[in-house]
Amino acid sequence: MNDVNWGVLGAGWLVKTATGHAIHNAQGATLYATGARDLARAEATGAVKTYTEYQNVLDDPNVDAVYICLSNEAHLPWIRACIAAGKHVLCEKPMVLTEADAVAVFAEADAAGVLLVEAVWSRWHPRMRRIVELATSGSLGEITNYLGTFTFDGVDPDNYRLSPDHGGGALYDVGIYPLHGLFGVLPQVESVSVLAAEYTRTDRGVDLTTKATLGWGDGSQGSIVGSFVMPESQRLTIIGTHGELRVEDNEAFASFGKPTQLWINGHIEDFSSTDAYQVMFEEVSAKIRGKDGWLLPHRDSIRVARTVDSLL
Ligand SMILES: NC(=O)c1ccc[n+]([C@@H]2O[C@H](COP(=O)([O-])OP(=O)(O)OC[C@H]3O[C@@H](n4cnc5c(N)ncnc54)[C@H](OP(=O)(O)O)[C@@H]3O)[C@@H](O)[C@H]2O)c1
Repeated sequence: MNDVNWGVLGAGWLVKTATGHAIHNAQGATLYATGARDLARAEATGAVKTYTEYQNVLDDPNVDAVYICLSNEAHLPWIRACIAAGKHVLCEKPMVLTEADAVAVFAEADAAGVLLVEAVWSRWHPRMRRIVELATSGSLGEITNYLGTFTFDGVDPDNYRLSPDHGGGALYDVGIYPLHGLFGVLPQVESVSVLAAEYTRTDRGVDLTTKATLGWGDGSQGSIVGSFVMPESQRLTIIGTHGELRVEDNEAFASFGKPTQLWINGHIEDFSSTDAYQVMFEEVSAKIRGKDGWLLPHRDSIRVARTVDSLL
């Protein structure tokens, strides 16, 4: 079966350092076209075709699917343009900025008969899939406590991450990872309530830090932290009525290309080195070709967007 020809919108940091290589290395995928405002950056991705207009990527009849890796406010209009062009879409997180937009674009993609998937790469990592399996199979009992952090210190002052006009902010950028972990392990929970929240914001209103305590069920609680101004940390601890699991390497949501471990009730499980971006492109490409492949459920993207709405 033919490879899926991917078109990429944007050739910024993530495409250059990780996802461009991931598409080249992925089985069943070809990096066919890249669109970037700067042609030299587009060419550096090694795509067969390069354009300075994103629309040219969508208009290319050889492009089967589009990976959107633009600043966050640009995701929604370009998802819609891809759907209008009849292309499948894998869009970087946060896919869109509100629950209403998430619900709307999923419906539009379904109506057009194209796949639309949020590229939360951590969810394709084998360790995270094992965590979800352990939590949802009942091995830990009922999940009563969750702690997930994704923090680092230092964003370039000119980066879109600090711009309210570009969907900036720590919750959208990194806090979203522990939220996706939370909903991955709580398939039965439709919504969580915000029990407490604390923010540090710039004078333009962009959150540099969001800390939240979320509640569900009969007194169960989870804490999530996302920050641009705290020491680097990616912790994950999940406690259930029958057991506990922990990630102890401080790379719970962004482990890249190295072996990892999972602590479960005093035992260690080992996972070999993985590029979860590559796995993501392989599985989405397989699904596009009608083969088996795991996709992040629409419902998870919607539940996370709903929680972000209630926090921001
Ligand atoms: N999954 C992950 O691990 C991960 C990691 C980092 C980021 N992300 C997500 O990936 C996306 C891109 O992140 P990145 O770190 O690669 O960002 P970036 O390098 O700062 O920007 C990505 C692209 O967005 C466009 N862009 C950036 N700032 C812009 C502005 N002010 N006005 C207009 N366009 C602008 C540019 O497109 P051109 O190339 O056309 O100039 C740029 O290449 C974001 O949605 C982010 O949340 C995901």
